[in-house]
Order: sequence, then C-alpha cells, then structure tokens
Amino acid sequence: MTVFVTGGAGFIGSQFIRDWLAQHPSDRLINFDKLTYAANLENLASVEGAPGYSLVQGDVCDPEAVHAAMPDACDLVVHFAAESHVDRSILSATEFVRANVLGTQVMLDVARARKAGRFLHISTDEVGGDIPAPRAFKEGDPLEPSSPYAASKTAAEHLVNAAVRTFAIDAIITRTSNNYGPYQFPEKLLPLAISNMLANRPVPVYGDGLQVRDWIHVADNCAALHLVARKGKAGSTYHIGGRNPRTNREVLGMLLGILGKPESLLTTVTDRPGHDRRYAVDCTRMEEELGWTREVPFEDGLRRTVQWYQDHADWVARAKSGEYRDYYARQYGTQTR
Ligand code: NAD
Ligand code: TYD
Repeated sequence: MTVFVTGGAGFIGSQFIRDWLAQHPSDRLINFDKLTYAANLENLASVEGAPGYSLVQGDVCDPEAVHAAMPDACDLVVHFAAESHVDRSILSATEFVRANVLGTQVMLDVARARKAGRFLHISTDEVGGDIPAPRAFKEGDPLEPSSPYAASKTAAEHLVNAAVRTFAIDAIITRTSNNYGPYQFPEKLLPLAISNMLANRPVPVYGDGLQVRDWIHVADNCAALHLVARKGKAGSTYHIGGRNPRTNREVLGMLLGILGKPESLLTTVTDRPGHDRRYAVDCTRMEEELGWTREVPFEDGLRRTVQWYQDHADWVARAKSGEYRDYYARQYGTQTR
C-alpha cells in the first residue's frame, strides 16, 4: 500500500506515521510537510531508516510541489497539515485561511488528478462550536465554529464535502477531540502546563478555568484513524472522542498532583476572546459501526505523558526556542531525503 501523509512531522501526524509503519512495515509512506514551527523531525527519528518511508519538505498550498511528491494512484491520502493553535489564529488568521482552506483545496485537486484512492481529511470537534451541556455534537449537526482556527477547519470540511458531491471522490472526514500525549508542541494546554510546572513557572489559566474539553490519548486517536482509513464508509464523517470530559482546572489539578507541585502555580489570566466553554463529541458511530474502543485510561495516559516530558527536557527546551530545524540539520545534515 502507498500512503501519502501531509503534516506528518507534527504532533498527531508523527504518531500516525510511527504507528502505521510499525504495523505495516512494507508499505510505502511519503510524509509531505512544510516543517513549520510546529513540526519536529525528532518525532520521526524512529522511522528515519524505514525502507518505505520518505520525507518531502513542501507546502500544501503549492500544487506543483504536491503534484511532484504524490505518486500516481496512491491508496490513501491522510491530510493532517494545518495551522492548529486557536490562540495564534486569534492573533492573525491569514495563515490559517491559507494553509487550512487553500491547502485543503490543493490537496483535493492533486489527489483527484493523481487518481488517489481514499482521502482522509483530519478535522476537529471545534467545528461544532460551543456545545451546552448535556448536548453532544453529532456528525450531522450544523457547524458553528467560534474561532478563526475552527472557521478555517469548517471551510475545509465544506470543500471536502463539495468534492465528494461534485467529483464523487472517496473522502472521509474525522473530527477528533483534544489530543494529549508525547511530542506535542508546548503551546497547547497540557504540554505548556507540564513544562511550566516542571520549571516551577506559573501556568496561565484562562478565565475561570471551568471550560470543558474531552481528552483523548493521541495513540487512541491514531488507532481510530487507522480503522477509519481501512473500514470507514466513503463520504462519511466520524467523530473520535475520549468520552473523558474534564474542566481545565480538573486536568491542571491532576497534573499538580502527579508532579507534587503547589496550586499557587495556577495563575488566572484574561480569558481567550470568544472562548468555547464546552466541547463534547458523540462518538457512538465509531463505536457501533466500526467497533472502535479506546485503550488508554486518562490517569495512566496523563502519568505517562508527564513522565515523557520529564524525560525529554531537552526536547522541550529546543521546541520553546524554535531550534528544531537547526537540531535536525546538525543531526542529519539535511531536512529532506
Ligand atoms: P501540529 O500543529 O502539531 O502539526 C501540524 C503539522 O502540519 C506540522 O508538522 C506543520 O509543519 C505542518 N504544516 C502546517 N502548515 C503546512 C503547510 N502549509 N504545508 C505542509 N505542512 C504544513 O498539529 P496537530 O496537533 O498534530 O494536528 C494535526 C491535525 O489534527 C490538524 O489538522 C488539526 O486541525 C487536527 N486536530 C488536532 C487536534 C489536537 O488536539 N491537536 C484535535 C483535533 C484535530
Ligand atoms: P488548547 O490546548 O489551546 O486547545 P483548544 O483551545 O483547541 O481546545 O486549550 C485547551 C483549553 O485550555 C482551552 O479551554 C484553553 C485553555 N488554556 C488555558 O487555560 N491556558 C493556556 O495556557 C492554554 C494554552 C489553554
């Protein structure tokens, strides 16, 4: 099988690639990634020498580059590449529209021209916007994004669905809740909080900290993506969630407990503008249609994640100082192969 992955040097994409190649070592897998600030090729060190693996540095907004990198009739395209952080989208949305909207259209066009098989588009539960309790966001519900990030991901979904309807391409959309685990860039809540706590630095709590997110371990998400890629129904959307809703304060309290740090590290700061109060995806469809189950209980996953960040202080330091690419150049001499 030939698999073309975009954004595979990021947090979720790199887990997907490591897991895919571990399970299908004879597959050919091309990782097409622009290597933005969020990329980290250290995440892929374990697959560097895998016979079927190759990395191409390129921008999903550049049709010629994507065309040149994608082989004819590859079996599966998995489109992770995106600008992914809500706070950055509030500071400036332009790159989100470019990468997430234009980039998705380019991927759809090239995949069609190259006669790719299945197109798996990675979206987010944030396209549903604020979901007041006790409601859960279902696949067919209206999309009501709040942030520029979520709006760009919503636009991308519409383009995928338009291509399904207009050109009858075999595409599937997945919407995942908040992922956590190793190798996550320390701007998102969990890695930021863990690394700050480890350094005895204040952890910013936006507003009252009672916003609810549904946490899923990145390995469980990637197992779900594998399942959807192989068994999902063309033209469908699947929700992937943790069935693990927690307030931010609850999660931060658990981290303080694991690390034995004082509550005084939690520092209330001005709330994020337009902050969604609650996300909640209904993932019954994944469970009932595809028989999906999760493997990682939250407490275990959180402990292991904390341990990983403790053991990878140098990784965190490099991530924070933006040294990934320099590091990679020193280690491997080049950024692509
Ligand atoms: P990330 O920010 O860690 O990684 C994004 C990757 O995409 C990076 O390697 C980056 O270099 C690459 N990229 C960005 N712009 C690109 C471009 N123009 N061309 C080529 N590559 C580009 O993101 P992540 O957390 O791994 O998220 C991956 C996908 O999953 C995104 O589409 C995101 O919207 C979605 N998602 C993430 C979460 C989460 O909790 N992290 C939840 C739901 C959905
Ligand atoms: P984040 O990791 O940015 O994910 P998202 O907003 O996409 O769900 O944030 C998770 C939650 O944590 C969200 O409610 C915002 C909040 N948050 C903080 O309270 N402090 C922080 O420093 C960050 C980054 C997020």
